[in-house]
Amino acid sequence: MDRNQDTAYLPGFSSLTKKKKIEWLAKRSGIPVEQFEKFSCTIEGIGLIYDSLSENTVAHFSLPFGIAPGFRINGRDYILPLVTEESSVVAALARAAKIWYTRGGFNAVVTGTVKKGQIHFFWSGGITQLNPVFPVLKKKLMAGIHPITENMERRGGGVLNVTLIDNTDKLGNYYQLDVDFGTGEAMGANFINSVLEKMAEITRTFMVSEFPYITPPEINMAILSNYTPDCIAEARVECPVNRLENIVKGMSAKEFADRFEKAVRIAKVNLSRAVTHNKGIFNGIDSLALATGNDWRALESAGHAYAVRDGEYRGLTNIDISNGMFRFYIKLPVNIGTTGGVTTVHPLAGIALKIMDNPSVNELMQLFAVAGLAANFSAITALIGQGIQAGHMKLHLQNILIQLNASDSQKQKAKEYFRNKKITYSDVSEFLKKTP
Ligand code: MEV
Repeated sequence: MDRNQDTAYLPGFSSLTKKKKIEWLAKRSGIPVEQFEKFSCTIEGIGLIYDSLSENTVAHFSLPFGIAPGFRINGRDYILPLVTEESSVVAALARAAKIWYTRGGFNAVVTGTVKKGQIHFFWSGGITQLNPVFPVLKKKLMAGIHPITENMERRGGGVLNVTLIDNTDKLGNYYQLDVDFGTGEAMGANFINSVLEKMAEITRTFMVSEFPYITPPEINMAILSNYTPDCIAEARVECPVNRLENIVKGMSAKEFADRFEKAVRIAKVNLSRAVTHNKGIFNGIDSLALATGNDWRALESAGHAYAVRDGEYRGLTNIDISNGMFRFYIKLPVNIGTTGGVTTVHPLAGIALKIMDNPSVNELMQLFAVAGLAANFSAITALIGQGIQAGHMKLHLQNILIQLNASDSQKQKAKEYFRNKKITYSDVSEFLKKTP
């Protein structure tokens, strides 16, 4: 197969039917057409939904949809639906749920729901000219966007404020309109962007008529910000230190609390560790995001930016051990929705919400914070105890066996053989060579 660059491009490809796209790709890649068909979801209607979510779809990529049962959150019981490819994430959350169920459960709260959008523009006039007319522009903006916002206003959202920001000290002629939004039950990305684009149009027209003697502004872009430091959820667990006995087998409550505290503090002062620490937090958050059809990239980017808000990138969880109490908590941006976009379109997202008894967006934000805290609690517990690999590799054994094409009987024998042993890829491979 000739793999020159020009064989990787077919003019008009995106307009072809799915069948033709697959035929072309099959020929180009040497992968039989049947392989693509085999990995296409044939459940009635759902395959078509998957096709419509993205462009140039040639197959459907499935991931495990699991549940972590037994969460006690704000005095209520929850099952968290989680979609992840990573062994032990679901087990980690379920383990944290179990530990905290009998120790007061998780408490969570939402302390902000404001989202932001921005219009970035360049203008050669000065802020002293803009400031006096800004209140008039603001009125025009609010009136002009009303047809787009009235529906959202009925659902408790809309535009909350518009601010003019002078950035000319950072970049020549650079100004910005910052717009605060409430988006009700939706994450609201489409709503925010539609409003911003309308506002950009209104702003340009207004400035041209207000300042006919100055070159019209160049609206560079109108787009939501994924940094949402005013859309915040918090979760916490707390119990007397002496209730932490044996959480790590054989470890005293005091030693556990002490080692746990140090692990959280390391992530506050060590960048390399902080990134891994936060990655573990997002193991929980992203899995819940995928299950509910929420945008995990938005959650990740906001969370990581929040982690560096004081100038140093730090772990997102906090610890306070005082007066004999162990308190472990998280506070982070959680910009999600229970309606709109994939959340509404993907049938499994609907099932995920139902599993959680159809939470409101505020309630779901709290569950996201809990998922992050629970994932981090389990990761640290494993790390300060027997290490992460024991639990990880036990679940990973299954993956290794599949990769090595083990037969059913070899799988069974391997599971028994490795029950109380350290599992490595090479050990499993050696074991299979010796085992019929
Ligand atoms: C693995 O996906 C996540 C951990 O590395 C997180 C951590 O180290 O805290 C276990």
